[in-house]
Amino acid sequence: MHPAAHPTFWHDRWTTGQLGFHEAKPNAHLVRWWPTLGLAANARVLVPLCGKSKDLAWLLAQGHTVVGVELSPIACAAFFAEQGLEPTRTEGPDFVTWSCGPITLLQGDIFELELPGSFDAVWDRAATIALPPDLRARYGPQVRRQLKQGGALLIVSFVYDATRRDGPPFSVPDVEIQALHPGATLLDRKHDNDDARYKEAGGVTEVVWRATRT
Ligand SMILES: C[S@@+](CC[C@H](N)C(=O)[O-])C[C@H]1O[C@@H](n2cnc3c(N)ncnc32)[C@H](O)[C@@H]1O
Repeated sequence: MHPAAHPTFWHDRWTTGQLGFHEAKPNAHLVRWWPTLGLAANARVLVPLCGKSKDLAWLLAQGHTVVGVELSPIACAAFFAEQGLEPTRTEGPDFVTWSCGPITLLQGDIFELELPGSFDAVWDRAATIALPPDLRARYGPQVRRQLKQGGALLIVSFVYDATRRDGPPFSVPDVEIQALHPGATLLDRKHDNDDARYKEAGGVTEVVWRATRT
């Protein structure tokens, strides 16, 4: 199995501060495409594999109730500290729940999440592509079933020459996104030749997808 399939891989990243995936501001695709989902302000949004992403704060600022799921206690603590929030922390059998008003971070494994049919939308940035292929095959359905019927997913995937570079982030071809999320619609595709991290793979293409739980 690929090392990124094991929680220790990610715990090590957080312990040693290898956070190349973290963005200093809300993701540009989120800001551009989220409004096209047409969600009510009070929508309930799931952010799988959320890290300490600024996207969480952006989603809160839209009026949404936000639930993030994240393995690392370091990430959970850092998110609240950086936002100047003081969460309550409750230990449960599957998750440690960090909560403050409309934001809850569930510290634990996304594959343990059991809130079926309870979300209006999912934001997936660096989540699908963080997982090796065998886990992605389980992750797609696991996340979809947490959505209400008609609930939306906004997903950013990366595509690059995987024979020339290993993940994470993994290259996830369009056909795989379409297999994981039948009926997924392509919203945007941007190729970047200049990102030094993908030089050996001939650059990287970011692909934005919208899907619906039918
Ligand atoms: C590539 S990072 C992306 C974080 C965030 N989405 C962002 O955009 O900054 C992937 C995150 O998923 C977390 N993670 C990995 N496997 C997980 C799992 N099975 N359950 C919950 N979180 C997981 C890692 O700790 C890491 O913070």
